[in-house]
Amino acid sequence: MGKVKAFSISAEAIAAERKRVNDELDQVDIARVVALDTIELPDPGPSDVRMRVLAVSAEHNVDHAALADTVNIAELRGGKIYPGNSALGEVVEVGANVTRFKAGDIVITHCNGEPDAFGYPMRIWAYDQPESIGWYAQEAVLGEWQLIPAPLDCGLNLWEMAALPLRAPTAYHLWRRGLGIFRIKVPRERLATLNVLGFGGGVSELFLMLAKSEGHNAFFCSGNAERRAALEKHGITGIDQQAFNRFASRDDVKGFSKQVKKLTGGVGMHVVCDMLRGPVFNAGLQAAAREGVNVSAGWQLDKSIQYDSAGASVKQLTLDHTHLDTIFGCNAATELYGKVFKPTVHKEIYAFEDLPRAMHEMHQNTQTGIPIIRVAKDMPESVKGLVPA
Ligand SMILES: NC(=O)c1ccc[n+]([C@@H]2O[C@H](COP(=O)([O-])OP(=O)(O)OC[C@H]3O[C@@H](n4cnc5c(N)ncnc54)[C@H](OP(=O)(O)O)[C@@H]3O)[C@@H](O)[C@H]2O)c1
Repeated sequence: MGKVKAFSISAEAIAAERKRVNDELDQVDIARVVALDTIELPDPGPSDVRMRVLAVSAEHNVDHAALADTVNIAELRGGKIYPGNSALGEVVEVGANVTRFKAGDIVITHCNGEPDAFGYPMRIWAYDQPESIGWYAQEAVLGEWQLIPAPLDCGLNLWEMAALPLRAPTAYHLWRRGLGIFRIKVPRERLATLNVLGFGGGVSELFLMLAKSEGHNAFFCSGNAERRAALEKHGITGIDQQAFNRFASRDDVKGFSKQVKKLTGGVGMHVVCDMLRGPVFNAGLQAAAREGVNVSAGWQLDKSIQYDSAGASVKQLTLDHTHLDTIFGCNAATELYGKVFKPTVHKEIYAFEDLPRAMHEMHQNTQTGIPIIRVAKDMPESVKGLVPA
């Protein structure tokens, strides 16, 4: 089939960078770890599709893979991974048994690597799914089952659509779970409008757009003024996380709880989307209303949590853990592009060669929205009108 350019992360590059910075992870330069490489793609099998990648979003799991802070996934996968599990592309060739797509179709990916008996992902494509090759590449060969038609008429531009394939299903799943669990405890007839809190990050932003679209009060606790301002435009109230020193001390958490009580008439938050754990977890727990639900699909600051089980019982709190969504859920989340999900995209659209810098700037937490990388220089006619000037 021939070689294509693709980015990789090798255990060797991780070790070299860790050595350079003496294992001080806050000094790591992600751009030294994510490297432009090549890969030989297989010919598409009967149920496969060959896709030209048009645009991708920088996903936070790449940061984890390059840092090897949660697990050293490159090492566990035999020394190298080809990352990238969110993409928007053009179908260029289909196998004989492919029925849902034809050449020229514009598609998005989902990254469910291996569904369990009920459809929930056991592994994630281009991360812990063995042998999986990611889509931070010029082209990819993947199964028909991994693709969803891109909703080109949803009102979003191409970069906004490219921001959503991974983060939107995650948010959709978190919201269904959080709301559903709360409703087991308190039915709608007893309380129609909930207070919903999310902490900084692209997934939380989308989670709050869902809550707001269903008439709830939504609050975004983030350390980034520009991202808070973007959500305020959707009617989502911002809370400055830096004002509480990102919950470094007990007093900071107390101050935050006080602010939450003030904003919610003394009630607190009925559903909280965490995603970060670490100090954020306790702040989210303290902010919870009675019968509250704390949901998370992330562990960016810490993999473990500790809490007072007795206190949580007395307050009727529920903790829930999720991971992406089922393939059905990914399809349903796509229906909400443009209607509910109107993502904020970082002001610079990165060139393909600049993908490592995009990853590093995501790590440095300086971006003003979800980071997008334009992979294809030439766009197909069908999407040319969706590329902002
Ligand atoms: N399991 C799954 O299915 C799944 C799916 C998607 C994501 N995830 C994981 O969930 C996490 C968040 O994902 P995302 O896509 O929302 O990430 P993201 O868009 O890159 O956002 C990460 C956010 O973390 C916040 N942050 C950074 N340093 C912080 C600190 N020291 N204290 C508190 N907040 C800090 C920043 O918000 P502010 O500066 O605005 O506060 C930043 O915007 C990642 O670990 C990701 O890998 C898991």
